[in-house]
Amino acid sequence: MDTIVVTPIESAEDPAYRQAYQIVVAGQAADVPDMPEPCWDFFLGKMTHPLPGQPTRHFLARAGGEPAGYLALTLPDLDNTENGHVEIHVHPQYRRRGVGRALFDRAGSIARQEGRKRLIGDAVAALPGGVARPDAGAQFARTLGAKPALTDVRRRLDLTTVDDDALAEQLARAWLRADGYSLVWWRDVVPGEYIDDIAYLDGRLNKDAPMGDLVWEPEIFDRRRIRAAEAANRARKRRRYNTGVRHNATGRVVAFTTLDLPHCPADYAWQQITIVEPQHRGHRLGTIVKLENLRYARVHEPALRTIDTWNAAENTHMIAINEEMGFRPVDSWINWQLNL
Ligand SMILES: CC(C)(COP(=O)(O)OP(=O)(O)OC[C@H]1O[C@@H](n2cnc3c(N)ncnc32)[C@H](O)[C@@H]1OP(=O)(O)O)[C@@H](O)C(=O)NCCC(=O)NCCS
Repeated sequence: MDTIVVTPIESAEDPAYRQAYQIVVAGQAADVPDMPEPCWDFFLGKMTHPLPGQPTRHFLARAGGEPAGYLALTLPDLDNTENGHVEIHVHPQYRRRGVGRALFDRAGSIARQEGRKRLIGDAVAALPGGVARPDAGAQFARTLGAKPALTDVRRRLDLTTVDDDALAEQLARAWLRADGYSLVWWRDVVPGEYIDDIAYLDGRLNKDAPMGDLVWEPEIFDRRRIRAAEAANRARKRRRYNTGVRHNATGRVVAFTTLDLPHCPADYAWQQITIVEPQHRGHRLGTIVKLENLRYARVHEPALRTIDTWNAAENTHMIAINEEMGFRPVDSWINWQLNL
């Protein structure tokens, strides 16, 4: 059996960080080959520009001296201060040799020292009748004593086959229910006049979206955190498109959504947050922001072809909108939770 040694990666200049990146690329190509290769700039940014409230420590595991596994351990410091989040990747050629367990043990001991009560991490799984996915992540998590706390389903929209006429009709129907609202758009920086509304809506997301058994507090957002996140995202070269709905009577933005292009490739985006303030639900604002934002992003990103979105399996309203737009299920992502 190879000796496994886990060492912290202190900076992005450390060659170990490039080796960690190569492990993530190889693992993803083996496990979820339909996902585009993660881009180096994006990975680099995770080390050089962590998101506010989410300081992350990075570790490389070597087996017999060779790079074999990578751990990113996030210990939130603005909220969720009893939680730790783990991301563990083991190179396909080094699996079932104890590398994952060694990385997990390191995460657990640091998290305990830092007073954390639980660790959370996600792993892909196949959907019934869906494309094949390895069950290594689930088996591993179960072996370590973690419990499935929330199941997300990833759905994909293929813009090469999307029915644009149907989308236009869906949007026109939605506007019939939305008298008294108008649109606002922004790219990477939310206009100052709306920043408090966006902080409020951002902070609601984990209150409003189904969280299953996952113990994750609503995140605390304010102007400073939003501006710091924007700076980190810009430094990571992410391109973000946002559409909001303004309630004309009060001037407040009461719904918004974000599409996020994580730099390369230019044809791929993540559908991020979509939220409607509870008092303004029932006016099709969720449909409106998503469809208008898709239009907005496509104007500026003509190469865009594929959008992935993750929703809790029980988030029926959001899923209904997505399905009507043409998003289709690909696989599931289980959030595993372990009490320390
Ligand atoms: C899950 C993953 C990290 C496991 O790494 P690993 O180095 O192969 O794991 P270990 O060798 O330390 O396995 C520890 C135990 O987990 C269980 N396990 C791991 N992979 C398994 C598999 N494919 N089938 C069944 N059990 C498995 C076993 O009980 C194993 O102990 P054993 O080999 O003595 O039977 C690796 O497959 C991977 O990188 N997967 C993709 C990313 C991911 O899902 N990460 C986990 C979520 S954070």
